[in-house]
Amino acid sequence: MELATDRGVFSPDELDFGTRYLLAEAPRPPQHGPLLDLGCGYGPIAVALGQWAPQAPLWAIDVNPRALELCRANLDRHGRPDAAVCLPDGVPPDVRFARIYSNPPIRIGKAALHELLAQWLGRLAEEGRAYLVVNKHLGADSLARWLNRQGWPSTRLGSRRGYRILQVGAG
Ligand SMILES: C[S@@+](CC[C@H](N)C(=O)[O-])C[C@H]1O[C@@H](n2cnc3c(N)ncnc32)[C@H](O)[C@@H]1O
Repeated sequence: MELATDRGVFSPDELDFGTRYLLAEAPRPPQHGPLLDLGCGYGPIAVALGQWAPQAPLWAIDVNPRALELCRANLDRHGRPDAAVCLPDGVPPDVRFARIYSNPPIRIGKAALHELLAQWLGRLAEEGRAYLVVNKHLGADSLARWLNRQGWPSTRLGSRRGYRILQVGAG
């Protein structure tokens, strides 16, 4: 599959290893959705979700306007012009997600990351699940402990080349 990328977005030259691992390892989404790609970048996760669950309402959010443009173009090109691609504030407050998939922006710092995850994990539907890929050198294990302490049951689904796939329950 070809995806448009550009300078100024995450991993423009090749699919990030963590993202690739998340897509290979995390369970496929349910067909009903709604689904969220949190921190979509140019959209590799959103495009995969859009193909795996073609009827599911799909949201892709980011704070980087160029990433949003590219993600929009990639979803259009790969059959999901109906998917919503927007800034985080563009998601109506009543939307609850059956699944969230994310290669989250670890480099924004621990406090900001915790705030971001708390915001979006709090919007999981009952029985909802999130799948996160995080490198252990960037704090995957302490993040999993923090999630558990906050009441979001977090288990490790896999580990490869230092990347952990975390499954997080709605709590
Ligand atoms: C590690 S990159 C992953 C990008 C893409 N999902 C991929 O796998 O190639 C994390 C993304 O999160 C975005 N981001 C940073 N802060 C954010 C926030 N507060 N809300 C949503 N996205 C954010 C960044 O702009 C970046 O595109």
